[in-house]
Amino acid sequence: MEITPRIKELPNHLIDQIKAGEVIEKPASILKELIENSLDAGADKVHIQIENNGLDLIAVSDNGHGMNYEDLPKAFGRHATSKLNKFEDLYQLSSFGFRGEALASMSSISRITCSSSPKSGHGGKLVIHGGQQVSHIEFENNESGTAINIRDLFYNTPVRLKFIKSKTSEKNAIWKTLNSFILSNPKVSFFIKYGSGDKAIYPAKDNIKERLKQVFKKNNEDFIVVNGEYEGHKIFAMVGPKSGRGSSKNNQFLFANKRLFSDKAIHSAVLKAMEGVWGPGESGAYCLMLDIPPSYLDVNVHPRKTEVRFFKSSIVFSLVRSSIEKSKPKKTFSFDNADKGDLENLLNENFSMKNNWESEGVNSSPNLFSITESFFLFNHNGRPYLINAPILFEKYINLKMREVVESEIVPLLIAEPYPIAYGPIDNLFEELSAFGFIINRPDKETILVKSVPDYLSELPIRNILSLFFTYLEKAPKKGLKDSFLSIDNIKMTKFSLQQILLMLKPFLSTWGSSEFAKPLNDEVLHRIYH
Ligand SMILES: Nc1ncnc2c1ncn2[C@@H]1O[C@H](COP(=O)(O)OP(=O)(O)OP(=O)(O)O)[C@@H](O)[C@H]1O
Ligand SMILES: [Mg+2]
Repeated sequence: MEITPRIKELPNHLIDQIKAGEVIEKPASILKELIENSLDAGADKVHIQIENNGLDLIAVSDNGHGMNYEDLPKAFGRHATSKLNKFEDLYQLSSFGFRGEALASMSSISRITCSSSPKSGHGGKLVIHGGQQVSHIEFENNESGTAINIRDLFYNTPVRLKFIKSKTSEKNAIWKTLNSFILSNPKVSFFIKYGSGDKAIYPAKDNIKERLKQVFKKNNEDFIVVNGEYEGHKIFAMVGPKSGRGSSKNNQFLFANKRLFSDKAIHSAVLKAMEGVWGPGESGAYCLMLDIPPSYLDVNVHPRKTEVRFFKSSIVFSLVRSSIEKSKPKKTFSFDNADKGDLENLLNENFSMKNNWESEGVNSSPNLFSITESFFLFNHNGRPYLINAPILFEKYINLKMREVVESEIVPLLIAEPYPIAYGPIDNLFEELSAFGFIINRPDKETILVKSVPDYLSELPIRNILSLFFTYLEKAPKKGLKDSFLSIDNIKMTKFSLQQILLMLKPFLSTWGSSEFAKPLNDEVLHRIYH
């Protein structure tokens, strides 16, 4: 028969060591708690020193409001805080801390020396080893501030020490923590001494953009600046357009009311919004700051306070996604030097290709998609082609001008007036009529177009003719046909799907011209389909 074990209460120091695990997971967690305390104390100068990636020493000193001699030991007691009075205060927080647990947790698993002093009154110096007070002395100082040294982290809980990851990952976590405070508190100066390296100084700045430059250690001129607001929820973000696989994590920051947090769903919203700018499966640097009405934000989700809950999470997600989408640069696409990635992004961005290419006829719309104003995707005999509209137009006009006969002239129901003053163009009226344009001049300032060639009647003629006439006015000597086709600005003309189909039609029987239609790379399509 087994002996029934007796139930006994745990001694306080053991409770403290166990509970410390909830708050202090690694050196970076201590650093986070200490800097938060300094900021909560209103400091605008924070000095930080780290030795052996935080295992030997984490020292943080500040010029905040400090503590007086009597209060100092209380700060290290469990559930002791000056920041919260009643539960409801949790939803109107203006401080990082509220649990009154951080200092107690760290004091139980390290050796701490803390000196603190208020602006007036007596300050004190307290030494605690593994939760046991070693000394507490009073001293006078006329500057307010607090300095805490945490040495020999986990010295009395060797098992915890084993869970410390590689030097690199601890270092990365520490720098991510440091960078998050540097970014979100631009008006606070930070002085950082990391191991044997030089002291890094971050002087106070007016805005986060300057800090971003320092933190990301690269120019952020090309960063996308995002601003948005919806129902009291605000977003400010800066997102880097360059992307890569992996490693970007250290440069991705989410803040809710200045508090760094992690949230996979919001990260995915950023990825989704940046599709087309960031490559598939890649991501880039971002710093995203949410300003949430305090009563809509729950920070009391986990003792480490690195998770938050939004009461209106759908607002937050759509705010993130739509604000970034609105601000991101529209990709400019060039037919001639488009690479696979460009195409893939373009296609992904503009439509999902669920259509069956084989079964549709030429005149039905699933065969033609508009990608940008100038580029269309066209299915010919089951194969997709990218259509360059300005070149297609040029080829179409060329073809038509060769075959035009008078009977194909289409009179316009209402003659189109154009504000073109009397000049060289008037000498061309006769020549123009041979091409199907019947034009006359009712007064010195206007010309009237009464009919146009049939092949133009369904195209955006008003737009095309204005450009054409402007060109003729300037360079009438250059032969009519050349003038018509060398209108650079034709690129600005918008064509409808119908007009593109119309212009494509004459070429379908002799398909094969690659000047305006380029077959899409099979590999790219394969990746899109599957
Ligand atoms: N740098 C500091 N300057 C002035 N007072 C401080 C400083 N650090 C801690 N304190 C005081 O000690 C108290 C306890 O700090 P601690 O970090 O343990 O708890 P907290 O900040 O109140 O809550 P949390 O556990 O959520 O961080 C604080 O409420 C504050 O009054
Ligand atoms: Mg705190």
